[in-house]
Amino acid sequence: MAEKFDFVYRDNFKQYMNLELEKRQAFYDDWVQKGDYDKDVLEQEYFGPRLVAKKMNEVLNNKDAKILDVGAGTGLVGEELVNKYGFKNLTGVDPSRPSLDIARSKGVYKELIESFVGPQPLPPEDNSFDAAISSGAFLPAHCDGSSLKDVVRLVKPGGLILIAVRRFFMDEVVEGFYFKEAVESLVTSKTCSLEVDYVSEYAQGQDGAILILTNLTGVDPSRPSLDIARSKGFYKELLEAFVGPQPLPLEDSGLIVIALERDLIDGGVDGFDFKEVVESLVSSQTCSLERGRKIEHMIYCD
Ligand SMILES: C[S@@+](CC[C@H](N)C(=O)[O-])C[C@H]1O[C@@H](n2cnc3c(N)ncnc32)[C@H](O)[C@@H]1O
Repeated sequence: MAEKFDFVYRDNFKQYMNLELEKRQAFYDDWVQKGDYDKDVLEQEYFGPRLVAKKMNEVLNNKDAKILDVGAGTGLVGEELVNKYGFKNLTGVDPSRPSLDIARSKGVYKELIESFVGPQPLPPEDNSFDAAISSGAFLPAHCDGSSLKDVVRLVKPGGLILIAVRRFFMDEVVEGFYFKEAVESLVTSKTCSLEVDYVSEYAQGQDGAILILTNLTGVDPSRPSLDIARSKGFYKELLEAFVGPQPLPLEDSGLIVIALERDLIDGGVDGFDFKEVVESLVSSQTCSLERGRKIEHMIYCD
């Protein structure tokens, strides 16, 4: 009968914090060799891989993007990204060889690197990945602030870094972990922008947080928005140009959907002329107009 392993978290991580890296690692090696990690975490209602992969699918449209899975373990995140969402170019990194053997057997990673992430830099060069993802690996005695810094180094300018953690690790300062501090310093130094999605039922009924970091390192400050938009892969083409007063070098388009502040339509603003142009398009029958009920205005051009 498989040995039961309890998840390393809040109350029992301290005993691992004082151990050397390799000794900490024995925990996962044992779990995978003597127990059944995938089955155990499912029983413990650990939904991190599912939640973070779903989020990656929402924010990154490029299925060929080269993605680094940090603390890939037995490959639960990879399975979700590849089998459910069709991402194709995954590299996993984890120090536990037995875990990586299982990940390899699932056939979802192009490459697997057996290594700790942090405190030493990983072998790949700067900007080697389009994006990075991680679930359940940023916690005390695991990946920490130094790991995060190296992940930022490895991700291209404008690239996304999605990290799923237990919520209390976002809210608490834990000595020797430096994750919260590392995130804050990335944001205050404008190295990354940050959004946080809080999710319920992350693991064992506890809340989680999905950090969505965008790497601003090396993003051209004169055109940051385009660089970031490009890296997300939703646009076939991106033009660096003002819209008006000169015509854009594009074919006529059919449907135009514009969201803007309601006051700008209802009040009218000197020099803005938006309302007037909309009215003249409609009265000259150049366009038909359907006005959205709450927040948007929709203009249908014939
Ligand atoms: C709870 S498991 C999560 C594994 C996988 N991401 C998942 O969601 O099932 C934590 C993983 O982090 C790995 N790990 C611990 N310290 C690490 C470090 N410094 N760098 C990379 N991975 C680490 C462990 O080997 C283990 O596989």
